[in-house]
Amino acid sequence: MEVDYVTKDFHRVLPRTPKRAPLRISRTNLRYWPSPLCDDDSVAFFFDVIQQPQTLGFELRHWNGDLFHTSILDLTTRNGQIARIIDTTLMWCLNAIAWIRKSGMNRPTASIATQPGLTTTEAPFIEQAQRDGQLYITQPYELYSEENHQAWQKLYQRMLPRWQHYANPHFLEGIGSLCLDPNRVPRLEDVNRFLRPLTGFEAKAVSGYIPAFLFFDSLRNRQFPTTITIRRSDQLDYLPEPDIFHDIAGHVPMHTDKLFAEALVRFGECAHTAAELVSGIRGRETQMHCLTSIIKAMARFFWFTIEFGLMRGADGVKVYGSGLLSSYGEIAHAIEAPEVQRFPIQLEWAINQAFKIDHYQPLLFIVDSFDHLFGLVDQLEAWMKAGKLNNVAPGEPGVNEEDLKSFLHAELG
Ligand SMILES: [Fe+2]
Repeated sequence: MEVDYVTKDFHRVLPRTPKRAPLRISRTNLRYWPSPLCDDDSVAFFFDVIQQPQTLGFELRHWNGDLFHTSILDLTTRNGQIARIIDTTLMWCLNAIAWIRKSGMNRPTASIATQPGLTTTEAPFIEQAQRDGQLYITQPYELYSEENHQAWQKLYQRMLPRWQHYANPHFLEGIGSLCLDPNRVPRLEDVNRFLRPLTGFEAKAVSGYIPAFLFFDSLRNRQFPTTITIRRSDQLDYLPEPDIFHDIAGHVPMHTDKLFAEALVRFGECAHTAAELVSGIRGRETQMHCLTSIIKAMARFFWFTIEFGLMRGADGVKVYGSGLLSSYGEIAHAIEAPEVQRFPIQLEWAINQAFKIDHYQPLLFIVDSFDHLFGLVDQLEAWMKAGKLNNVAPGEPGVNEEDLKSFLHAELG
């Protein structure tokens, strides 16, 4: 359905009646309109219109993509009429549209396309953000479909008993501190309200893959790049890429622990050290070889600790790695399966050990405490400075062009 918001009175293009309410959320983009309040393009807004069966939501953004305001038009109707409009900014928005119409400016045509919520690999909102080159985004909470919330509910409910059994006590405490709703996909702003006062960390919504340096550097700044999409509710076990359950239920509870948070920040600092060291290496070939090797070593360290780490405790070995904490099958397998190799961590092994992401891990490393983990990060940096990460064993993970560029062009403030 094509709608021209400019050439018709705005209210006329609203869905007249919810008799045949769309089954799926749809979305319209009205973009790059200069602000009617200012001639300066740099403060121009664009409008995102997000249509749901009962509401019409507006996101007003600055030209750079920062959210300026969100408004909700309530389409709750009696006799098929629009009942009421909430929010004065929405009125401003309508006035702005009228002003643009009168001014004879370019008239963008908005198209409404079906949108299946914020489902992993099926979210037009995310695709648009990626096309626009937006790494950091705002979580458009109203776009989550009921199926998305159901997926969260199922994932959370079935993990709870497993967490009680296999997770380390710091994680269980973290889950309690965050007050996550077991039934609805969490709002990042709610999560952050509980998280920030504990360790200064916050979850920051991203549109997808973040190049290695930017990712590590975010940790240094106590920001955790967080995926906002969620896997399909009929594919709970299959996860082709991170989703909000992995990031919020798997990672973020660990960020409530002070010692763990410090280790994570320390790890982020290592990325700065790496970028500085590499910038001083003469000869392009040598520089790229060393950088590739250092990124590989850091990614492996992250994998075998933050993602798949085990920790020794009074009640035996427990899980603290987020890849395990967000996997119903693997969390039990990691602790119970006799074929899994579980060894006290040794840095030289972790940084030289390849891994594959598409099957249960055959090898896991155990730390004694988060103090121990912090000490390992210190050691990682010391080895980096001594050149001991410049030629680690080949194999997974791969290091792509974007990762390399992110280190070579790092801003080292
Ligand atoms: Fe992760």
